[in-house]
Amino acid sequence: MGHAAELIRRKRDGEQLGRAELSELVLAYARGEVPDYQMAAFCMAVFFKGLNGEETFALTEAMIRSGETIDLGSALGRKVVDKHSTGGVGDKTSLAVGPVVAACGVPFGKMSGRGLGHTGGTLDKLESIPGFRVELSKEEFLDQVREVGLAIIGQTADLVPADKLLYGLRDVTATVDNVSLIAASIMSKKIAAGADAIVLDVKVGDGAFMKTIEDARELAHMMLELGKQAGREVVCVLTDMDQPLGQAVGNALEIRETIATLRGEGPPDFTELVLDASAHLLALSDLGVDEGEGRARAVAAVEDGSAFAMYERWIAAQGGDPAEAALPSAPVVTEVHANGEGFVRSIGAVDIGMSALRLGAGRQTKADTIDHAVGIRCLKKRGDAVGAGDVLAEVHARDDASAKRAEAEVLEAYDLGREVPQPRSIVLETID
Ligand code: URA
Repeated sequence: MGHAAELIRRKRDGEQLGRAELSELVLAYARGEVPDYQMAAFCMAVFFKGLNGEETFALTEAMIRSGETIDLGSALGRKVVDKHSTGGVGDKTSLAVGPVVAACGVPFGKMSGRGLGHTGGTLDKLESIPGFRVELSKEEFLDQVREVGLAIIGQTADLVPADKLLYGLRDVTATVDNVSLIAASIMSKKIAAGADAIVLDVKVGDGAFMKTIEDARELAHMMLELGKQAGREVVCVLTDMDQPLGQAVGNALEIRETIATLRGEGPPDFTELVLDASAHLLALSDLGVDEGEGRARAVAAVEDGSAFAMYERWIAAQGGDPAEAALPSAPVVTEVHANGEGFVRSIGAVDIGMSALRLGAGRQTKADTIDHAVGIRCLKKRGDAVGAGDVLAEVHARDDASAKRAEAEVLEAYDLGREVPQPRSIVLETID
């Protein structure tokens, strides 16, 4: 492609680019005809000058056209719903929402990603289950959604390959956190994966890409608009990521918390988010229920055991052992004790995420392997009263040295104050 430099210059100078121009640039990049250094310069120009709605849609469309698309609805003969989170610490929501929604009779077929930086990835969590296969062929995936009602797999290589390339580039050129680039990245994958209706969990706070509610709203509106233009129904829930979600951070620990939640014994904030997201998904589905009825059905699926039974069927269908006892456990488990008294004012989500990553729960470089057993359980959460010496958290580690380091990091991440902080619910806003 001859005029990439000209497009970079025009975007650098704040000009609007045409649909055909953006499409040509993205598709040429995906074919290897535009080098990384030019695309990196383009992303930086976008970072500073932004893309308007039309340009963002053109970028999204071009990214979708870089690979294959799946028509899940036609393949299943049903309206298909999907959910996505912008990424957080301790975010295992899809793992619990999938079984709840499927137990209510709505097929749930989802493609998920791996951990990135301080945020965990759904696939890494699932791989802590012995035998679980995240790589199914498209046919196996469709058969399983049809027969079991639920499948969660890794994104196939052919789905939006331009995003895979661009995301890797953005990650190392400080151009991830731009609203248009994030919206196009997420929505291209959701639209290509074929769901008719999508619930987007936009995380807000210290542990999220969007640090403020204003930025989260802007991203939500952008994604709603992209969905609308592609003929999809979208609901955005803006949720709190100023502390880790639930208690568990770390792969097998998060699977254990998912199991507890499906049995009705989960932490309150995580349980609330699972029920809220499930209610939206059921209301968007072809069941013909409103959100109130959707929530009642989600609650009933947990209470009558059908959500947990669906979890067991799903895990077994993908080759995994659904028994909690089959999950790996860390050899060293230690407690983090409060060195004063008061109320938990905040828990640094990034700090906890990074500490879990250093224990081995995430990757510091792409080539790292994950230790599925390790992680952190934040037993005290924002607003909880704490006495001196009380247990704030547990560290699950491979050895004593890494446990010691994590204990100090976790203690540092907890901020205690004299006054009870303002209560904040997990769902901050819903935009549709
Ligand atoms: N998640 C994505 O899939 N893409 C982004 O750009 C950010 C979060």
